Amino acid sequence: MTGTVLLECDDLVKVFPGVRALDGVGLRLTAGTVHALLGENGAGKSTLIKVLTGVHSPDGGTLTWCGQQVQLRSPLEATRTGIGVVHQERNLIPGFSVAENITLQHPPSHYGLIDRQAMTAPALACLAELGVDLDPHQPVRELSVAQQQLVEIAKALHTESRVLLLDEPTASLSPQEAEHLFEVVRRLAGQGACVVFVSHKLEEVFAVCDTVTVLRDGRSVLESAPLAEHTHDDIVGLMVGRAHTATELRPRTVDRSATPTLVLDAVSTAGGHRDISLEVRPGEIVGLYGLVGAGRSELVKAVLGLDRITGGEVRVHGTPARITSPRQALHEFGIGYVTENRKEEGVFLEQPVVRNITVTVWQRLAKAFGFVSAREERDTAQDLVDRLGIRVSGLQQNAGELSGGNQQKVSLAKWLAADTKLLVIDEPTVGVDVRTKRAFHELIWDLAADGLPILLISSDLAEMVTLADRIVVMTDHRVRGEVDNDHDYDRVSGRVIRLIHDRDAVRS
Ligand SMILES: Nc1ncnc2c1ncn2[C@@H]1O[C@H](COP(=O)(O)OP(=O)(O)OP(=O)(O)O)[C@@H](O)[C@H]1O
Ligand SMILES: [Mg+2]
Repeated sequence: MTGTVLLECDDLVKVFPGVRALDGVGLRLTAGTVHALLGENGAGKSTLIKVLTGVHSPDGGTLTWCGQQVQLRSPLEATRTGIGVVHQERNLIPGFSVAENITLQHPPSHYGLIDRQAMTAPALACLAELGVDLDPHQPVRELSVAQQQLVEIAKALHTESRVLLLDEPTASLSPQEAEHLFEVVRRLAGQGACVVFVSHKLEEVFAVCDTVTVLRDGRSVLESAPLAEHTHDDIVGLMVGRAHTATELRPRTVDRSATPTLVLDAVSTAGGHRDISLEVRPGEIVGLYGLVGAGRSELVKAVLGLDRITGGEVRVHGTPARITSPRQALHEFGIGYVTENRKEEGVFLEQPVVRNITVTVWQRLAKAFGFVSAREERDTAQDLVDRLGIRVSGLQQNAGELSGGNQQKVSLAKWLAADTKLLVIDEPTVGVDVRTKRAFHELIWDLAADGLPILLISSDLAEMVTLADRIVVMTDHRVRGEVDNDHDYDRVSGRVIRLIHDRDAVRS
């Protein structure tokens, strides 16, 4: 029923050692609405979601379900109450099939035995509702990040919850996949559910949400208000606590006659790339743009030795290079690689922040000083923590305790601290808030201004047009052309999009 208040919380408090992650949060979730939960990295969004789903017990405040005060002592209790969730960190069992993961919480059973055959039909129904075509028998470890995220969402749909909490569900979805998810979300709200939606992409939020709550430093600074009464700038102002200014473009000059640091000359790979040629010069930011699945990350991985190069040549500093691993790429050729899959590959969750950041500088520091002084290590790490505004209670805090966005910043800081001769950055700002995005763009410009060549992969066209000097456009594992970037968004994005759709385009 539309209008009924399903879940309500008042004055919620959650304390972790050194931080009040929630410090008086109120929220009212009404049937038939899509509710945006917004805030900067570390504001408390995921913590709130974990309290509302029985993962964390609150240290203060009350929870009310359909007018009755309740306590949610475990995730199972929350599921039984009617609260479904997709957590920001993935929660799938890698060795289990798609169908097993989707039906895990409510497995169909037959005389007390779990019926594997009977899992397939409901799993397929949930996938079909999302418009996703996946083999229900495939183990989820074989899926891409985006596919795993879709399985998570299908799993939440399977519990048929009245309140559905989605913590950054679109972070690694393509625009088409996200569009599909929004249709499902609207449909669920139309059927009387309340869907809570966490995202750093405000365009999405304005397109799909009705009401909004904004968290800042663990407090709700805007509570369950109609979104239509607020502008984009209002909301950003509430999140950051002051008026927001967009990234200002910097004038840039690149010496196009300099010898390129990295050259790909007609490269083919076992992964299906054909005839890929590109160059990155000192101080130049080259964008590699394409839709999800175009083969951009795979190309970079092949260059770094993670997939086989079957034809053509890779040259680094003018000499042909046979790179066999990212480790060798770093130590012999000075190539740093910030992966898109930071969660799994980028951060050591059990290690303190300081060690995470300085792990790649270890050798350099050891060489320069004969030993690594704790002070040297600390200063390097502190400098980056300050520049990127990473929210930590101290450098000794374990990276695993940081909010999702702050973990990403740590993995980026690690590479920025390294003494690299070329930096490859894959999707730098997925999941980071607006203020950090800007700090990050400025950092990339600083690095390029110091002469570092940068190869940037991003699915965010606006980010590409802001940062890149040239944009190389890929579809289907081929380069379709190159666009010189004069930062005029309409003109440049128009040319990029034409290249994507005009498959017969020749390299200009
Ligand atoms: N298990 C934990 N132990 C200690 N501190 C924690 C833990 N979980 C979260 N925190 C801290 O609580 C604060 C809020 O984190 P939370 O994950 O809720 O942020 P968030 O709003 O979801 O941010 P993001 O947009 O980066 O995902 C942060 O300072 C974080 O470091
Ligand atoms: Mg979070």
